[in-house]
Amino acid sequence: MAVPFVEDWDLVQTLGEGAYGEVQLAVNRKTEEAVAVKIVDLKRKVDCPENIKKEICINKMLNHTNIVKFYGHRKEGNIQYLFLEYCRGGELFDRIEPDVGMPEQDAQKFFQELIAGVEYLHGLGITHRDIKPENLLLDDRDQLKISDFGLATVFRHNGRERLLNKMCGTLPYVAPELIKSRAFNAEPVDIWSCGIVLTAMLAGELPWDQPNDACQEYCDWKESKHYLTPWKKIEATPLALLSKILIENPSSRLTIAGVKKDWWFYKPIKGVKRNFLSIGGGSEATGPLGKHVRSDMNVSQRSHSEEMTTYSSTQPEPRTTISTWDSSSSHIDRLVQGKGISFSQPACPENMLLNSQLMGTPGSSQNPWQRLVKRMTRFFTKVDAERSYNNLKETCEKMGYVLKKCCANQVTLSTTDRRNNKLIFKVNLVEMEGRILLDFRLSKGDGLEFKRHFLNIKKKLGDIVANQKGVVLVT
Ligand code: ADE
Repeated sequence: MAVPFVEDWDLVQTLGEGAYGEVQLAVNRKTEEAVAVKIVDLKRKVDCPENIKKEICINKMLNHTNIVKFYGHRKEGNIQYLFLEYCRGGELFDRIEPDVGMPEQDAQKFFQELIAGVEYLHGLGITHRDIKPENLLLDDRDQLKISDFGLATVFRHNGRERLLNKMCGTLPYVAPELIKSRAFNAEPVDIWSCGIVLTAMLAGELPWDQPNDACQEYCDWKESKHYLTPWKKIEATPLALLSKILIENPSSRLTIAGVKKDWWFYKPIKGVKRNFLSIGGGSEATGPLGKHVRSDMNVSQRSHSEEMTTYSSTQPEPRTTISTWDSSSSHIDRLVQGKGISFSQPACPENMLLNSQLMGTPGSSQNPWQRLVKRMTRFFTKVDAERSYNNLKETCEKMGYVLKKCCANQVTLSTTDRRNNKLIFKVNLVEMEGRILLDFRLSKGDGLEFKRHFLNIKKKLGDIVANQKGVVLVT
């Protein structure tokens, strides 16, 4: 049966923020379909209209399992809306435990998917130029999706390749030639950043601030001092692969074909059901996800290997009928076209939980869109809003954060991380069925550092942190 046609979509939560603007989660009030909406203010920067045109153009070329789907775009005045696949599993960096990483088989699976996505992009002559865990999202089956093509560009057209010369990306993830050379090949730069992502997944830390000779950690790596951190935390076989990826000379660095031939890349790791893996990926002929909300979304930080065991018996996930797909995509089509849609948005969108219109039925711990959101940087408190705020303020100020109250239920915390880089995040105090949820969100800085800080603050606030058993949202 086709889902009834309904047009109303609510912008229910900020999923991310950046220099461009923000990404909001839009949920169809009746069908519960979810779409990520990137909202770009074209006035923000002079070169913005050109950049966004390029981002849209590149997005239109893409169709791959390991790349966030693009549904379309719409311009209203100075605002450009990009409608994208909503990745319910959140960001890859939420799966990385600071200073630890994640189980090796999970890292291998995510790395295989990352390489499949990058191979597809390079095949089309496109380079992403900002591969990092914050730009790698996970869907409801924990499939990795490359996101944010705001810095992407075409490096090969009609079989002719051009060298790049623009410095862009994020310093700890950029390749050395980008800092050192005036012109460089595109593909090895993306492959390098995949190597840094793999290091982060296996060790829970980034190896250096930037790969140049002024950086001691980088020099140590070049001298093969593998007894130092993060390398000493990494097993010999993945370390052998990293040693072939993180090579200064881009022409000696492994190519994608070389990565795929590496023993660790394809070796079966205990606990992984190989038939579930999507190595190599492939273009998808299917439409956007049908119904995005499952009632069993009481997600926690299950390891992927566990998740895969669960799925292996039910794969592929039931995809109802073609007509459901069609009608479902037509909702999204109409959202993209702006036909009769009404975005409802509260004054401070972070505080949607206070918006009674969206609350679930009494007694249920979650309304549909709360079920959609899976992030680990949040917890409930045992005390009321005022005491939660006072405790947070006192603790964070003692810890050296600069705290600024933005609106009634939101504070901004600023500090510098251990590499002396700026770190800014927001904390939303959200009332939910009589309890207070402290929801932390990164605004600026390194995602892994953000998580380290979150865990520290949570530890310091131990006395007011609620017992998490039975709490669906919190991990
Ligand atoms: N954050 C940014 N883009 C997103 C998306 N497409 N899905 C989920 N979270 C996001």
